[in-house]
Amino acid sequence: MSLPTVRVLSDAQGVAEAAADQIIDVAIAAVAERGVFHLCATGGSTPAALYRALREPARAARMPWAETQIWFGDDRFVPRTDSLSNVFPLDAELLSANADGSASPIAPSAVHPWPTTAATAQAAVTEYLAELRAAGVPHTSSGFPIFDLVLIGIGGDSHCLSVFPGSPLAGEGAPVAAGVPAPTHIEPHVPRLTFSLGMLTSALEVLALAPGAGKAESLERIFSSATAVVDAPAKAALIPQATWLLDSASAARLPS
Ligand code: 6PG
Repeated sequence: MSLPTVRVLSDAQGVAEAAADQIIDVAIAAVAERGVFHLCATGGSTPAALYRALREPARAARMPWAETQIWFGDDRFVPRTDSLSNVFPLDAELLSANADGSASPIAPSAVHPWPTTAATAQAAVTEYLAELRAAGVPHTSSGFPIFDLVLIGIGGDSHCLSVFPGSPLAGEGAPVAAGVPAPTHIEPHVPRLTFSLGMLTSALEVLALAPGAGKAESLERIFSSATAVVDAPAKAALIPQATWLLDSASAARLPS
């Protein structure tokens, strides 16, 4: 197993700020090399603080917003206006006007949600994969999009994206993306749309955000050599191009 970079910050705010700084550095390099930065965002409770950190004036001034396109690694199969949507915190914290009334730094057209208005999950998957191709996002020969940076949160059950323990999306030969029935073991109990784990290994960089004491047991399981990927899907992000941003509370059960 090739180890990722692991950084332990003091708290969740430290994780958000470190993530924002790394995103900006990767974005500047991507734009310099390829003229565009394709960021794949995540859901859960970590993105809101990250988006706020990105909008702080000193960071916002460094970020190449005009060349940035934002995608999502997964979403809940609910309307974008539903607070359960993974787009909801981005709409609230990044696409909203600034407190001083100035416009969001990024154009709404640069944000690409999963089409959760589609009639079925498969239709939504087909539509989203076509949108990625049409946008010129590079792909692997296996059909996975190659994002410049993929953000993931880590579930208390050691899932990432919406690939839950025991999922066929955690195995070899999984489709690039699929609909996922509503999980019963973890909130929210709504259907999901998600890329499978191969999207992580196809990414140029991965940023795993896992602050908080509630993640300590999950991280212990993920970093244990005794655990299989199918039982802790976030293990798929233990790869050289990944940086894991933890805090003292979530790293408490890991070897120093
Ligand atoms: C989702 C997310 C999911 C999330 C983890 C961690 O749709 O729920 O994509 O993978 O990132 O559950 O969530 P927290 O950071 O809120 O614990």
